[in-house]
Amino acid sequence: MSAVDPGKMPDENGFFGEYGGRFVPPELEGVLEEITDAYNAIKDTAEFQEELAYYGKHYIGRPSPIFHAKNLSRTVGGAQIYLKREDLNHTGAHKINHCIGEALLAKKMGKKKIIAETGAGQHGVALATAAALVGLECDIYMGEVDIQKEHPNVVRMKILGARVVPVSHGLKTLKEAVDAAFEAYLKDPVTQLYAIGSVVGPHPFPMMVRDFQKVIGEEAKKQFQETSGGSLPTALVACVGGGSNAMGLFTAFLDNDDVELYGIEPSGTDVEEIGKHAATITKGAPGLLHGFKCYNLQDEEGTPHPVYSVASGLDYPGVGPQHSYLHDIQRVKYRHIGDEEALTAFFELARAEGIIPAIESAHAVAFAQKLARTLPSDATVLVNLSGRGDKDIDYVVEQYGSSFGITL
Ligand SMILES: Cc1ncc(COP(=O)(O)O)c(C=O)c1O
Repeated sequence: MSAVDPGKMPDENGFFGEYGGRFVPPELEGVLEEITDAYNAIKDTAEFQEELAYYGKHYIGRPSPIFHAKNLSRTVGGAQIYLKREDLNHTGAHKINHCIGEALLAKKMGKKKIIAETGAGQHGVALATAAALVGLECDIYMGEVDIQKEHPNVVRMKILGARVVPVSHGLKTLKEAVDAAFEAYLKDPVTQLYAIGSVVGPHPFPMMVRDFQKVIGEEAKKQFQETSGGSLPTALVACVGGGSNAMGLFTAFLDNDDVELYGIEPSGTDVEEIGKHAATITKGAPGLLHGFKCYNLQDEEGTPHPVYSVASGLDYPGVGPQHSYLHDIQRVKYRHIGDEEALTAFFELARAEGIIPAIESAHAVAFAQKLARTLPSDATVLVNLSGRGDKDIDYVVEQYGSSFGITL
């Protein structure tokens, strides 16, 4: 057993070691305390757990299967690659796992509206979906660059009845969308609930979102053991934006010291140059961002660096506080994959297995391929396929199609 006890983290102030916490204006302090109290009061009740399990099974389609990617493994050589198919969830990604939880909580707290930021649009679509399901209004803040890039998801959010609020300042991507959503939340924290899209933000969000996502790893552990005669995977791999799909997969395995855990950050077009990547743990340092302490990419005054990745869901200058902690204690290894490697993996998975991954998830696939090559054939690598690529196909083909032999 390792020193990490996920059941005991964070502490009552929301700290994972030195990371996390709540660094917010006084007017937000009470509101966040109210959310923490409401969540703590219901989280372990049979009624709430049954409700989550019901929607998990009958609405999201859980458990998501594990697929042995034999063709991909054969082309790579080395270890066998398995995929946890979160791409098969209703709305096409893992984000729906925490959105249902957050929407149910908002409803129980008597809120009228649920608001959030989105990058790739997956969290926005999932939240708009959950809002429609439980009967809440929904506002989604999204950078104008991402609105262009992720057009199909913008249309889906509007069909679902959400209001998509364009954010036009700064780089017009995920960080600015978070700024704008926080600002809107501060204006009316009484009738609205901010349903953050990852394991980031002030306490209790990193804890709450992780709790809603940890079903991924709980299922995966059981499913893998059933098919392997009781053994666990050699390694787990997940992409890391804020880090929710990775925490979702890793949490159930944190105490299994013999299972190696890899979090994959986006190194964009150049990991050595500011503004060309979002490799937060690889290149960042501890500091404050959006009300919590974490590794982040920032200058000496604490102003966040511009960040970039081909994957809109990964270009955030911070990362979840639990990831920051797991990096420091070396329980999880954080590595990076660039645009080109991710795009190659995107096409290779599509052509080897008939599965088009989200460009975010393709970062994890690319690293799994690299890792598999270094391992023996009886080793196993389980990748969290966090989402499907429907949202990305227009952009990817328009920008990079010709490099992969596609002309339209
Ligand atoms: C499919 C997919 N995977 C991964 C991510 C990254 O988020 P997180 O690191 O919170 O899992 C996103 C974010 O939008 C996403 O849409």
